[in-house]
Amino acid sequence: MSTPLLELDHVTKRFGRVVIAEDLSFSVGAADTVGIVGPNGAGKTSLFGLISGDLAPGAGQVRFAGRNVTRLDSSARCRLGIGRTYQVPRPFTDMTVFENVLVAAQQGGGLRRKASYAAAARALGMTGMAGEANVPAGRLGLLARKRLEIARALATGPQLLLLDEVAGGLTDPEVTVLVEIIRGINAEGVAVIWIEHVVRALTSLVDRMTCLYGGEFIGDGTPAQVLATPRVREVYLGSEIVDASTIEAVLEEGEGGR
Ligand SMILES: Nc1ncnc2c1ncn2[C@@H]1O[C@H](COP(=O)(O)OP(=O)(O)OP(=O)(O)O)[C@@H](O)[C@H]1O
Ligand SMILES: [Mg+2]
Repeated sequence: MSTPLLELDHVTKRFGRVVIAEDLSFSVGAADTVGIVGPNGAGKTSLFGLISGDLAPGAGQVRFAGRNVTRLDSSARCRLGIGRTYQVPRPFTDMTVFENVLVAAQQGGGLRRKASYAAAARALGMTGMAGEANVPAGRLGLLARKRLEIARALATGPQLLLLDEVAGGLTDPEVTVLVEIIRGINAEGVAVIWIEHVVRALTSLVDRMTCLYGGEFIGDGTPAQVLATPRVREVYLGSEIVDASTIEAVLEEGEGGR
């Protein structure tokens, strides 16, 4: 078997009494698509921090492309190919869309001038933002802001893209647009781990799903398998955000309604 792209090996992380990861092991292969659900405050964003290097684990190892990256900071990991979006995006609002993406290619991806322009242009093309390249980021509507957030991560040249709740607040047609953008990125060979409360968006894309709760992953299988797991239903359907009828509909459609 080939080496997985990302491996969490017995990772533990706590903030005082809050358990983010408890002896957590998990691996993701090249070009995989994995969805992570879990109630508010379960530690999903913090888990991304452990993968991207914004947070250091208390114990355990993070490996990327066969290399131990546990002690590398987020900029070093980004250069190795781990790109992420943020749940609360903070684009440079006075800068244009193109400038924002260019900064990501240069600072995050470590690309030099010519290569950075090419990476920025490509990222805008793949996210459907080429037409808004010269618009100040502060003037964008919600869907365009989400596209820009993905474009910034993409411009760094990731092999692994971490998406943190990019579908929140969008209408159904907008969610469809976003899913197609992410599908296109994955089709280029980029692995995707997507944290999302909009379950229908997740299930329309990912092959594999899991639920983070109490520092552990509950269930690891197809979206339909995981959403049908009694423990997942117990901890997740009890959370305020998720609409139970959505999950029922997904289950009725079988394998994620694809
Ligand atoms: N740097 C930090 N220091 C201390 N506690 C933190 C820190 N970051 C997060 N936490 C706590 O860890 C817990 C998990 O937070 P996190 O944001 O990772 O959850 P989440 O699953 O992403 O939630 P949501 O679905 O609301 O986005 C919360 O109780 C939060 O307050
Ligand atoms: Mg979060």
